[in-house]
Amino acid sequence: MQDIINQYTAEINAANPANADELEVFRIKYLGTKGILKDLFEQFKSVGSEEKRVLGKVLNEFKQNAEAKFNHLKETLDSGLNTQDSDTDLTLPGDGFALGSRHPLSLTRIEIVDIFKRLGFVVAEGPEIEDDWHNFSALNFPEEHPARDMQDTFFIKKNSGQDDIALRTHTSSVQVRMMENGQPPFRAIMPGRVYRNEAISARAHCFFHQVEGLYVDENVSFADLKQTLYHFVQELYGEGTKVRFRPSYFPFTEPSAEMDVSCTICGGSGCNMCKYSGWVEILGCGMVDPNVLENCGIDSKKYTGFAFGMGIERITNLKYVIRDLRLFSENDVRFLKQFKTEII
Ligand code: PHE
Repeated sequence: MQDIINQYTAEINAANPANADELEVFRIKYLGTKGILKDLFEQFKSVGSEEKRVLGKVLNEFKQNAEAKFNHLKETLDSGLNTQDSDTDLTLPGDGFALGSRHPLSLTRIEIVDIFKRLGFVVAEGPEIEDDWHNFSALNFPEEHPARDMQDTFFIKKNSGQDDIALRTHTSSVQVRMMENGQPPFRAIMPGRVYRNEAISARAHCFFHQVEGLYVDENVSFADLKQTLYHFVQELYGEGTKVRFRPSYFPFTEPSAEMDVSCTICGGSGCNMCKYSGWVEILGCGMVDPNVLENCGIDSKKYTGFAFGMGIERITNLKYVIRDLRLFSENDVRFLKQFKTEII
């Protein structure tokens, strides 16, 4: 009996079924209810008691070996790693796995948001379909302000007769919603898509993306605004980037300014990106007009604040020297795949 067990053991060790059918033949032959193992245990009953001691151990080992071999073969076949299948060469390199890349506007937005998060700003979002109050009136736009004109704003006529619904033209509307729903301190940035009724060209589009920011607390001053934005620019474009503030006008801030940075392409010596001025404008900003605070239920005697807003497209253009805005929304893979993506 020992001999025959040795022979079966050798057979089992050499077995290499190519598919599930052959594996089943193996199982029936060795482990089936009428199989070899069953038969050996039958024979075992009739051996002498002296022999039983030795054979019992051998037989049990044989059983364990047969079962282990079966389980191993099954796993191998199930996982498709069957080396016998002549069509499969496991040494060949795999098919490769094409990872997408992040959209350049997303890369810029993530970078901007990260910088402000490190300064303790939270991210706030709001609806893209807005009413006149949140997009204009609360922000101190006079009734006859040209920005409300049909040329700039996409109005949505509703059957209900409510005709002050529009696609938001800036994410300042989110600032209004935030202030209406709470009390200072506020320290938040509002990234999002905005819409303006412009003819599509290399320099203008009917939608673009913004990050606006709001900081309201007691004793917030223009110096806080300048230092915050100065720090932001050093983080975004590197230490030593120069900034300058030019007086400007926005209905919702007083005083208002536009901020330029030393040209990110030529460093200020003059190139066609900065039209040989050495400076490029990147954002609008100012101290929140007290009227806006009061419109939102905030005591303008107690609190002051600053706000700013920038276009993500503009910052991205300056960073990657992209001269046609339309590239951002055409979804041309040849353009998109040039932007390196880190797995975040
Ligand atoms: N809302 C302005 C725009 O869309 C940007 C801005 C925000 C300016 C906050 C000043 C303060 O152009």
